Amino acid sequence: MKTTRVLTGITTTGTLHLGNYVGAIRPAIAASREPGVESFFFMADYHGLIKCDDPDRVEASRLQIAATWIAAGLDTDVALLYRQSDVPEVCELTWLLTCITAKGQMNRAHAYKAAVDAAVAAGEEPDSNVTMGLYCYPILMAADILLYNAHRIPVGKDQVQHIEMARDVAQRFNHQYGEDFFVLPEAQVDAEMELLPGLDGRKMSKSYDNVVPLFEGGLDGLKGAIARVVTDSRLPGEPKEPEGTTFIQLWDSFANREQRAAMRAELRAGLGWGEAKQRLVTLIDAELGPMRARYEHLMTHPDEVEAILLKGAERARAIARPLLARLREAVGLRRSRLLPGRAAPQAPKAAVVPVAKQYREADGQFYVKLLQGEQVLLLSPGFTQGKEAGQWWARVKAEGSGAAAGAQQLDAGLDAVLALLRAAEAEKAEKAGKAG
Ligand code: TRP
Repeated sequence: MKTTRVLTGITTTGTLHLGNYVGAIRPAIAASREPGVESFFFMADYHGLIKCDDPDRVEASRLQIAATWIAAGLDTDVALLYRQSDVPEVCELTWLLTCITAKGQMNRAHAYKAAVDAAVAAGEEPDSNVTMGLYCYPILMAADILLYNAHRIPVGKDQVQHIEMARDVAQRFNHQYGEDFFVLPEAQVDAEMELLPGLDGRKMSKSYDNVVPLFEGGLDGLKGAIARVVTDSRLPGEPKEPEGTTFIQLWDSFANREQRAAMRAELRAGLGWGEAKQRLVTLIDAELGPMRARYEHLMTHPDEVEAILLKGAERARAIARPLLARLREAVGLRRSRLLPGRAAPQAPKAAVVPVAKQYREADGQFYVKLLQGEQVLLLSPGFTQGKEAGQWWARVKAEGSGAAAGAQQLDAGLDAVLALLRAAEAEKAEKAGKAG
């Protein structure tokens, strides 16, 4: 089966709330258990630096978000859980992508435009609040995705433009360097991701101060938040219309089918909001309670989290490195080697100097053999006297193959080899003479 790579990151600027859990973490963990899916979840801490200049907050957030994924039941032996910054290859890819990304495309990024609009509205220079990090945010995000050739990217609606930019950048790179290095990723925007409202019915967000905390603050934090869920002012005993309320959306996020139907019936029959909220706390805590205990354990045993994250980063790098090596090669960041059009210098042929051997065979006769390496170039006839064999060889050496009468074996290249041999001997004699 072809595996689908699903990847998503969470920026490390704070802790997670119930909306993150219901909208992103819970569905992501469920999807990571499907066959044929390979999941990549990471703490986008390089991105965190763009939005947050408080080192302690970045540190805390990295740990809290990692502990949340693990506590919520992610199987980190299967899915990859890692910190973005533990895979520095992403920075190098960011640069390669930066070099082919049109500035005009970054000008159109929503986050950048919002910063410009805010500055202009405040009567400031348009770019006065814009760092290069913010400006290039979408390129780093494209690198997050393309480094693993991820197919599917579950994100909220506000991130869809970034995924489209990642596709554009991937396409441009593939085109420019003539090969499909990158898969074109697709955004996956689930209705669920936008579903859970904050306490006041608006989108759940820290900036609206309407969040239900996930684990931080414990059960009391959960109770306190649910108590603040905005309802109408109908009293216990008065029938209430559940549809469309913030309360019922929270309820539905944790209830099964029967529980959903039962709560609607009871509210219509006059169940009080206070009682309903208590039941909501019980319902949510049935799911989150055991996870919270695990979260608390992890937050007090950070080395357990660290070990999991480092292992995740190693697995991620094992995928990232080979792709990056191909990309470096493609763009020309190559090892020194002979450039095309430059001929390699001819290595001088090491001439093997032939060697003559005189020996006596089992038949009692004397022979001479000329060898060049393994090859037999000349084999004399047999002589009864060693001296005769020596004289025969001396003549052949001086005069060439014409003098090799009676040879049993005579190589066609013999004369050339003899010339070589004579030259070598002359050189040797000359050297000896000089030395003397
Ligand atoms: N920008 C995303 C957000 O703010 C976080 C993020 C960073 C991300 N890199 C990513 C999400 C890659 C998906 C894929 O929500």
